[in-house]
Amino acid sequence: MPLRRTCPFDPPPGLAELRAAEPITRRVMPLDGTELWLVTSHDLVRRMLADPRWSSSLDGGLSPEQPLHVTQPEPGMFISMDAPEHGRYRRMLTAHFTVQRMNRLRPRIEQIVAERLDAMERLPRPVDLVAEFALPVPSLVICELLGMPYEDRAEFQAAARVIVDMTASPEQIDAAVAGLAAHLAKLIAAKREEPDDALIGELIREGALTDGELVQISMLLLVAGHETTANMLGLGTLLLLHHPDQLALVREGAPGAADELLRYLSIVDLVMFRGAKEDLTLGGQEIKAGEFGLASLAAANRDPALCEDPDRLDVTRPKTAHVALGFGPHQCLGQNLARLELEIALQALLRRFPGLRAAVPLEEVPVRENAAIHGVHSLPVIW
Ligand code: HEM
Repeated sequence: MPLRRTCPFDPPPGLAELRAAEPITRRVMPLDGTELWLVTSHDLVRRMLADPRWSSSLDGGLSPEQPLHVTQPEPGMFISMDAPEHGRYRRMLTAHFTVQRMNRLRPRIEQIVAERLDAMERLPRPVDLVAEFALPVPSLVICELLGMPYEDRAEFQAAARVIVDMTASPEQIDAAVAGLAAHLAKLIAAKREEPDDALIGELIREGALTDGELVQISMLLLVAGHETTANMLGLGTLLLLHHPDQLALVREGAPGAADELLRYLSIVDLVMFRGAKEDLTLGGQEIKAGEFGLASLAAANRDPALCEDPDRLDVTRPKTAHVALGFGPHQCLGQNLARLELEIALQALLRRFPGLRAAVPLEEVPVRENAAIHGVHSLPVIW
């Protein structure tokens, strides 16, 4: 079961061979011994993620303390729900995440990015790009979108880190979730009194959701909306620093750069678990109801059937049908925001500091080993 990346930019070694030989194959998770179907080709990953017979109501899976199991999600935690409940929430939220709605945030995102770059410029070098830029930018943006005071960030950043840490114990995760939920419940109660124009306020005014649902939705958006983008900014910058020709193209504003970086890095990878709700066939394999499946987005995104020379980073590549943002009914709700943030933040960073470079060799950059989302803990840079 290839799980560990040896290069922070590439899928774990062994996945490419599996994809070529046996794109759906029975494997045993090394940590807890769970048996599952590992799916690695682009075609089968998409078929699996689009098929309503595969359920999303699962939890755990990457640690012996949390073996993969079926969950009963809290009302509002729609990432773990299936149709028809999932669709009800998704329909309520989609209108708030369209390209047009996200474009309205553009000036505010540009301002947030410029302020963070000003702050970086004043610091003694080397500067940690993760702490000073990659993490604060998406945190500020998601706070702005939801209408959360940015002063609350220390609490939600710490909780989010525990929630996506595969080595955290069930008790640690429960405590982080409970703390964040209590905090959000207070915020939502205050907004019921005085709803503002940000997302939580708008959802309150629309009137279809309970406080409990609003807490879970806000929690999902907070965690999904900042850990992912923060890691794309950190790891994406590191990748570009190792590809100066591609970096120059991003600085000049190559329009498809965000998608190519998403495809190439596939920072959300071996956490895409599903459970078969009934007997089914996929890629010629007979899958029994109750069996688990795992879609490798990284393997699918480097499938030669997806694009030419998939292991080459090429930010001028024509648009691909990559699956870095998922596929099917659960495809990333925040994808328009993610693209916008990546485009604005990377271009502005590279334009402000044309001489940007890593202050340490690649081997010394601390890579997140145990997180459900790939990235780097810190990235010391100079310019
Ligand atoms: C750059 C970064 C991002 C990446 C790589 C990413 C990746 C993904 C992936 C792979 C899924 C599918 C999960 C599944 O099928 O189980 C997903 C779902 C989701 N993402 Fe993102 N995401 C990113 C940014 C964001 C942002 C900025 C937001 C919110 C503001 C967000 C909110 C969500 C939500 C709410 C879902 C669940 C959708 C559903 O279940 O219907 N994501 N994301």
